[in-house]
Amino acid sequence: MSAKIHAAITAVGGYVPPDKLTNQDLEKMVDTNDEWIRTRTGITERRILKEPGKATSDMIVPAVLELCAKRGIAPAEIDCLIVGTVTPDMVFPSTANLVCHKIGAVEAWGYDLSAACSGFLFALAQGTALIESGRYEKVVVCGADKMSAIVDYTDRATCIIFGDGAGAVLLEPTTEQVGVMDSILRTDGSGSQYLHMKAGGSLKPASAETVANREHFAYQEGQAVFKFAVKGMADVSAALMEKNKLKADDIAWLVPHQANLRIIDATANRMGLGTEKVMINIERFGNTTAATIPLCLWEWESKLKKGDTIILSAFGGGFTWGAIWVKWAYDTK
Ligand code: UT7
Repeated sequence: MSAKIHAAITAVGGYVPPDKLTNQDLEKMVDTNDEWIRTRTGITERRILKEPGKATSDMIVPAVLELCAKRGIAPAEIDCLIVGTVTPDMVFPSTANLVCHKIGAVEAWGYDLSAACSGFLFALAQGTALIESGRYEKVVVCGADKMSAIVDYTDRATCIIFGDGAGAVLLEPTTEQVGVMDSILRTDGSGSQYLHMKAGGSLKPASAETVANREHFAYQEGQAVFKFAVKGMADVSAALMEKNKLKADDIAWLVPHQANLRIIDATANRMGLGTEKVMINIERFGNTTAATIPLCLWEWESKLKKGDTIILSAFGGGFTWGAIWVKWAYDTK
């Protein structure tokens, strides 16, 4: 019997735009203050893609080119590229399509996956299945969002949270006991009422009225989402640990979605982890939706060691949520 194929993460890339939107900047735009934002969310500043004519794909391109350079492969070697995003460049074609064209991934197919803040986790599970099938050798999984394109900068309850960014990982097959080991992923459409975009889909196509009503922006009932997120992210992370008999001491890192520092703390507490084991970049990047988790891996890559047990965990609009257990596959030279 041949050994089971695992999907190993073999390289990471990331990109955040250079322009910063600080709490002080927001104080001039809406009725808020630095202290409220920092204590309620943990955020100090976010990055915003300001350059005219640039979209989500333009942040993914440098992230994917970086991981190709690190791994020493050409984009033409990529078999499939999946993009988790809720801010595609256009409704169609897919952002994955546009990225493949821009980087010269001429042998690849790809598609976008819409799962809001859980977009990277869902895409990682999909990429893993493709690798484990034995049919694909190089699958790139991206999480990217240009949230500034759908944030209402007159709504103080949402505009203080979000930022722009992109992250990507390369998946390759291995028969070693490393890579994506297990996952628990969930959706519950009954939560859609609390976090969604009202217009622009087939339910309510764009019209002068939808624009006038500001219905092309992200709508969030923050408190309701907060309650579900705290429970959802903590429960699913604990359930994944229990399912795989993982103890807090076994875990090297928790990589949580960065929506709110208080949600991250609740998840870490429930897992029995101290803050020294939690990747946190929310203070500098805010909530970049599908990009938060790969951006953490990108920034922490040099600290990760082969064999490290890592739990990725997210909760987001939809509702969508889940946790993935990864055994890190390489030491950074
Ligand atoms: O990433 C995908 C999923 N999204 C999330 O996980 C986000 C989850 N939700 C949250 O992180 C939080 O609910 C928020 C950060 C969005 C809001 O924090 P909160 O502690 O839930 O605040 P709240 O909505 O309960 O509002 C508390 C008070 C209200 O005033 P009153 O009614 O008590 O007088 C708000 O009007 O804070 C007020 N408020 C603000 N004050 C200053 C709301 N936004 C602001 C603001 N600055 N930006």
